[in-house]
Amino acid sequence: MSGSVRGEAPGGVDIHTPNPARIYDYMLGGKDNFAADRDAAEQIVRVFPESREGARRNREFLGNAVRYLAAEVGIRQFVDIGAGLPTQKNVHQVAHAVAPDARTVYVDNDPVVCVHGRALLASTATVAMIDGDVRKPEDIHAKVSQTRLIDWDQPVGLLMMALLHFVDEPYEHVARLRDMVAPGSHLVITHLTMTEDRSHDTERLRHIYSTASVPLVPRSREEITQLFGDFEQLDMNLFLPSYLVKRMAPLGAGGVARKPGPAAFSAAPKSA
Ligand SMILES: C[S@@+](CC[C@H](N)C(=O)[O-])C[C@H]1O[C@@H](n2cnc3c(N)ncnc32)[C@H](O)[C@@H]1O
Repeated sequence: MSGSVRGEAPGGVDIHTPNPARIYDYMLGGKDNFAADRDAAEQIVRVFPESREGARRNREFLGNAVRYLAAEVGIRQFVDIGAGLPTQKNVHQVAHAVAPDARTVYVDNDPVVCVHGRALLASTATVAMIDGDVRKPEDIHAKVSQTRLIDWDQPVGLLMMALLHFVDEPYEHVARLRDMVAPGSHLVITHLTMTEDRSHDTERLRHIYSTASVPLVPRSREEITQLFGDFEQLDMNLFLPSYLVKRMAPLGAGGVARKPGPAAFSAAPKSA
């Protein structure tokens, strides 16, 4: 972000309050962040030295899951909520490597993410970036429909990666989103955990986030599993080797789960 170099901010952006999209961008080695974000990120790394690797593993998992959904399941449409600042191997790039006709709609409630997303993705006809909040599923549904890239009657890859630990009461909202997608759709989630052996450090992490634009709400593995509702959970070993899942467990958990029922795939979106 050029403002980070000159100490200026694009209109309306609070550069003094750490923000999850920019903290994460810094963790991944990106440049779209300000001093307050970098300070918070460095404090987080001191508490959880594995945070940087955790962010990279999260992206690795995202790539593997999207590739699996496109190549093995045949999914051709993706909705990525809490998409974050564009980085390498974004969802549409991974999907296009398998299926050039795949369509992706990115959703985020951070205006800076939306501006960067649009600037980077504007030239691609199969990709859109919309401003939306996971706590307003109906609004997301309406805006995604307006892009005419997603046919809700066909299976969707619905991603909420490293998002829901920024939401106080996510269960009803996620349930609404699960209801909106067709059978054969897949829900992909990652989420910060609160494991017993690191609960003290996790409290310190929450304290760091108490100065940020949103609070941090880590959850137990059981609480994270509830986010999948009655979807059928796939084996995590399809996406990451088990030693990595185990090593990252004090930091985060996640999964890929399929909505039960027969999937009705057709060649092109009805709305296109
Ligand atoms: C840590 S980043 C994760 C980025 C990407 N999903 C990934 O895993 O690589 C979290 C993103 O969630 C977004 N976010 C936070 N709360 C949100 C909300 N209520 N609705 C939509 N997006 C939100 C933030 O703006 C940020 O871009």
